This record gives sequence, C-alpha cells and structure tokens, in this order.
Amino acid sequence: MMPIVGPRFAMPNYINGEFVYGKSYFESRNPAFLSDLIGSFPESADEDLYHAIEASKAAYPNWKALGMVKRSEYFFRLARLVEDQLESLARIVCRESGKQINESRADVVEMLHMIQYDFARGFEGTFGRIVYDEISEKECFERMRPRGIVACISPWNFPMAIPLWEIGLALVFGNVVILKPSEETPYCAHMIAKLFHEAGFPKGVFQVLHGHGENIGWDLVCHPEVNSVLFTGSYEVGAKIKCEVARHYNKICAIETGGKSAVIVLDDARIDELAIPASIASGFKTAGQRCVSMERLIVDIKRFDEVCDKFINAAKRVRVGAPTDQNVFYGAIINADGVAKGLEFNKRARQEGFDILLDRNSESIPSDSGYWLMPFIYRGAWNSNSFVLTNEAFSPHVAIIPAADHEEAVRIYNDTIYGLSCAVITEDFRKARYVEENADCGIFYWNLPCIGAGVRLPFGGVKASGNLIPSASGIIPAITHQTASTYNRGTKIVMAQGLSIKT
Ligand code: UN1
Repeated sequence: MMPIVGPRFAMPNYINGEFVYGKSYFESRNPAFLSDLIGSFPESADEDLYHAIEASKAAYPNWKALGMVKRSEYFFRLARLVEDQLESLARIVCRESGKQINESRADVVEMLHMIQYDFARGFEGTFGRIVYDEISEKECFERMRPRGIVACISPWNFPMAIPLWEIGLALVFGNVVILKPSEETPYCAHMIAKLFHEAGFPKGVFQVLHGHGENIGWDLVCHPEVNSVLFTGSYEVGAKIKCEVARHYNKICAIETGGKSAVIVLDDARIDELAIPASIASGFKTAGQRCVSMERLIVDIKRFDEVCDKFINAAKRVRVGAPTDQNVFYGAIINADGVAKGLEFNKRARQEGFDILLDRNSESIPSDSGYWLMPFIYRGAWNSNSFVLTNEAFSPHVAIIPAADHEEAVRIYNDTIYGLSCAVITEDFRKARYVEENADCGIFYWNLPCIGAGVRLPFGGVKASGNLIPSASGIIPAITHQTASTYNRGTKIVMAQGLSIKT
C-alpha cells in the first residue's frame, strides 16, 4: 500500500475482484484535523453499479454451491489478517472517524469477533432443523436458502464492526454482497476490501461501491436485482427504504435506525461503583455518537440530587482531545452537521426552560482545525412535548430526569418513538426484571452501561429504532429465507390431518 500523501489522493472502488478508479470523486478528511486529506473516493455512477451487479450475478452460483463449511474457511483466513493488522487498522479508524484510539481499536476487535463468529457459525455446518410429522413416514426439514444479492449500507460510527455485522453471515450463508459504506469513512471500507481481497474471496462475491447515500446508496436500494437491503442510519432514510422495499416482490430489508436510549438508576443502586461509571460511558463514549448512546439518565427521585452532583463532577473530568491520545475519553465529532445538530439541541434545551447543569462548550476546544462538542447536561421533569427529551441528538447531550419509582421510570423510557437500548442500575432482581419486561427496547442491560454490545447477541430495536430484524448474530432472517421440505419414506401416499385421497 502506498502512503497516503498529497492532495486528491485517488482511491478505488472494489468491483469484480479489482480495484477500479472512478470518474468523479469526493474527499475524506480527518475530522480532528481537517487539513489531513485521507483520500479521494469515487462517486460511483450507473456504470459502476451495472458492473458490480453483473459481477455479483456471475459469482453467485459458484459461491452458493461451494457449501457453508468451505465458505466459512475464507473467514478463518480473514480473521488472521485482521489480527495481524489490528493496530494499523485501529489507527486508520481513529484518523478517519475521529474516534479515540482505544475506541477505534475496540471497533476493529468487534469486527474481528464478528469474523470469528462467522467462521464458527459456518464451520459448524448446521442450519435449519429436522421436524417429525404426524405421519411417521414423513420427514420434514426446515432449511435456509440465501437470498442472492445483498446490499449493505453502513454508517461511519463503527466503520469496521457494523459492515461485518451485516455482511459476514450474509456471505457465510451463500449470498453475494455489495457494500456501500458511509461517505464519511470510505478509507476504512477500502481496508475491508483489501482484507477480503488478501483473504482470497472469489471475485464478485464481495464488492465495495463508494459514494453518497442519495446517489449510489439509493440506486442499490431500488435496483431490481438486489434482494436484501441491510441499512444502519437515520430513521427518515430507514423509513424510505422500508417503503421502497415494499414495492418490490423480491426484496426484504433490515434497518437499524437511531435511539433515545437511557440508563435508569433506582433508589437502591450502587451509585459510585455502578451508576456513575455506567452513565459516563453511556453518555460520552464516542462523544455520544452511538445509536445506543444514553441521552436520558432517569433517576429515582430519592437519589436524584446525589446522582446529579456525582454525574456532573464526573462529566467535568471527561477529557476531550486528540483521538490519537491514549488518555483522552473521547475525540472528534464526525462533521460540521454533527456539531451544528449538537449545538442546536443544547440551544433548544435552554429555550425549553431546562435547568442547565453543565455546558463545557464555553471551554476552549481541543483544536480549531477539527469538529468538537463538549459535554452538555441539563435536568427537568419529563415532558412528552419536549423536543430535546424525545429526539435523538447524537451528541454528548444528556438530560437527567426524576422518576417516582421503577414503574414511572419505564413509562418515561417508553414515551419516545424510539426503543433501542435500556440499562437499569439496581440491586433488586424483581425491579430489574420489571424494567426488562416492560421497557420498549431491543437491548437490555442490568448494572451495566447501555452501550457495549457483543456480536453473539442480536443487536436491534423496536418502534423507530428498527424493523425487528436485528444485526450481528440476529441478521439471519434478512439474508436467508426458510424453506420447508417433506420427504416420504413410505411407498404410499398418506395424507396428514386425516385427509383422504379416495376419489
Ligand atoms: C451504535 O450504537 O451505533 O453496543 C453501534 C455498542 C457497540 C455498537 C454500537 N457494540 O455500543
């Protein structure tokens, strides 16, 4: 790989096993240090899409016929490459996404774990079930078939892990995949393409088309030969994708779309050891730019003042700065729109009359050559009509809200359109289970932050957070279809349900 130097360093798509340059380009820059140009990436056009679809169609029959065990062996090779390159990949994530270096490394480790899971899942070689029928001569099988061409449209905030949450099992189960990565982190996706290339995946099985969502992203969603669309991003785009997919007889989608997640602290909680560290991690890791980030800290009224004081004190100590610094808690914001959105939410919290407890944005920012937001914390009674309490800020913006007890805490938690992640801090098993069973969420934690999911569990939400097909280990319904097969060992036709075939 040549060093990335100089302006307008042109980078390719990955089509049919080759690195192919484009006609027009967009730039990727380091969000912590804008003069650092990472590369110029193709704004993919109709002809790129045409070539990628043709290559997908050509690759699909052999890949599908190869069988699950052989397909999974590619993931074994891929895992070894990722392990060898872990540090350099982490530095690339850090440079392009602005995520602090430890978080960037965690993103690569999460990708590695997903690849290991893909290998393990495929190498085990089991899928489907054997079912016995009421007619004992009949043997019934439930199988899973691949869907064909899968398009994955992935976000910038986990540029390594999230693509693998979607594409790994899709490939192991015999599909072919086209990845349209976020236009904010194309170099990370280029590294994924290089890894797949080095691991020797057959040409056309995995491809990368760069560009913007409204261009090549939408063209992939609408393309008649794309059968599954796996999308992570905003609810507005996810809703548009659901409508488009519904118009096609052959399409299905899995969408992961936003949240307004919360940590709930009950009156018996261990505040210092559990509630405060869980809340700081949930609110401020990745500068609040996770879809699972905590934007609401819901606290039993009996511990409210104590939690407010301790949370503010801890938030004052959160170090913001150069993403490459090991000792920094969080790094940069991804772009100017992210900063503007965060500041707009902070302004509206003031306009809505909330009690502002901490606004560190008046402090000097880490550097004037990047995008930054400092922690912002306010408190006030729950109000369903509040804009800031019910919409996703995707920034280090946290509301602290009092609740009379665990039941009211759950009512507050449920009073937004979202339903992604929910954590409860309590020593009381019954109250924890109450929250687990009654919070509208797809991801629940007890005595933990509301972030930090592993790949062995399904990752997804309800309501406006997703369409009930989770990612990571849960993606299988979006990338396969279940079939039912029945064999007759007998020599006569015997019908089930008492049906007679006498004419
Ligand atoms: C996201 O919130 O955008 O659970 C993804 C976590 C990470 C993934 C988060 N494993 O925090």
